[in-house]
Amino acid sequence: MRVLSGIQPTGNLHLGNYLGAIRNWVKMQDEMDADSACFFFLADLHSITVHEERATRMRNVREMAAALIACGIDADRSVLFNQARVPAHAELAWLLNGTARIGWLNRMTQFKDKAGKNREGASIGLFVYPVLQAADILLYQATHVPVGEDQKQHLELTRDIATKFNTDFGVELFTLPDPYIPKESARIMSLRDGTAKMSKSDPSDMSRINLTDDDDGIAQKVRKAKTDPEPLPETAAALEGRAEALNLVGIYATLTEQTPDAVCASFAGKGFGAFKPALAEVLVETLRPIRQRFIALKEDEAALDAILDKGAEKARAVAAPTLDGAYEALGLMR
Ligand code: TYM
Repeated sequence: MRVLSGIQPTGNLHLGNYLGAIRNWVKMQDEMDADSACFFFLADLHSITVHEERATRMRNVREMAAALIACGIDADRSVLFNQARVPAHAELAWLLNGTARIGWLNRMTQFKDKAGKNREGASIGLFVYPVLQAADILLYQATHVPVGEDQKQHLELTRDIATKFNTDFGVELFTLPDPYIPKESARIMSLRDGTAKMSKSDPSDMSRINLTDDDDGIAQKVRKAKTDPEPLPETAAALEGRAEALNLVGIYATLTEQTPDAVCASFAGKGFGAFKPALAEVLVETLRPIRQRFIALKEDEAALDAILDKGAEKARAVAAPTLDGAYEALGLMR
């Protein structure tokens, strides 16, 4: 079993990232005994699909590393690194470009969402982004990839690329990875619109809870979160059609490790005037220690660089045989 996942170091970590992915990274790390069984990385090569100044990118990579450590990633047990320090990612992505089909990439909904109406103006990098993601995963023979729902299609593409490469070249080089998607928090929605995903690119900061928000900020965002005037029902099934209510109940359920049914049962008949303060309290209590650790860690750039250096060294060693195998299968002499 090998666990691997990545996050783009663009701006802040938000509650969707935390509940959809990072919390599971930490759980999986803590459940696995073996050293170097888990690989977590900052997808800085992916981040070039969004324009950023050099200094901002450098700061974002270090800050995201600090955020992951603050959330519980232990760089002594897990391999924590940034892609750019491991050139095998870019190399394998190029080799897989011979296998990935334009038709497959044309179906990627994230590309369509991110490119928007101006597809001709989107970068090539944005289009082939999922091929780099496939390389990230296949390089390490990952079996389990903990991600939110929005990455499911990229995982399916990764399996398609792996299968076609193995078949076309008659090798058993790549392991087919499985996504590991949480049940209740697979898709945390915006606090302002229950039909839109919570995301760092939403222009309204009120739509998301950031790891860096202070206690009052969190409480205020919950207080102002969009809801409806109905009381909470007895069961979660009765929340159908109430997207905002369903989202808040799901967040509460995940944080308190209960089912949405159990949450509904304990708040049944009560309105959001009663539910929101309870939700704000669990959010504040969960995020406060993470924020405090993050603030302390992010100042020490040298320590963060040392962690990423060490992680990259381990990652390079594990990635090398797969990359060699791909060159070999293709008959590319080095
Ligand atoms: P990214 O940086 O957009 O998000 C990081 C992780 O957070 C999850 N996530 C969410 N989960 C639930 N609700 C939300 N509102 C929400 N928003 C984000 C994402 O599903 C993701 O798991 N392409 C990836 C990064 C990547 C990667 C990889 C992931 C690059 N290579 C290889 C896994 C394996 C991305 O942009 O995630």
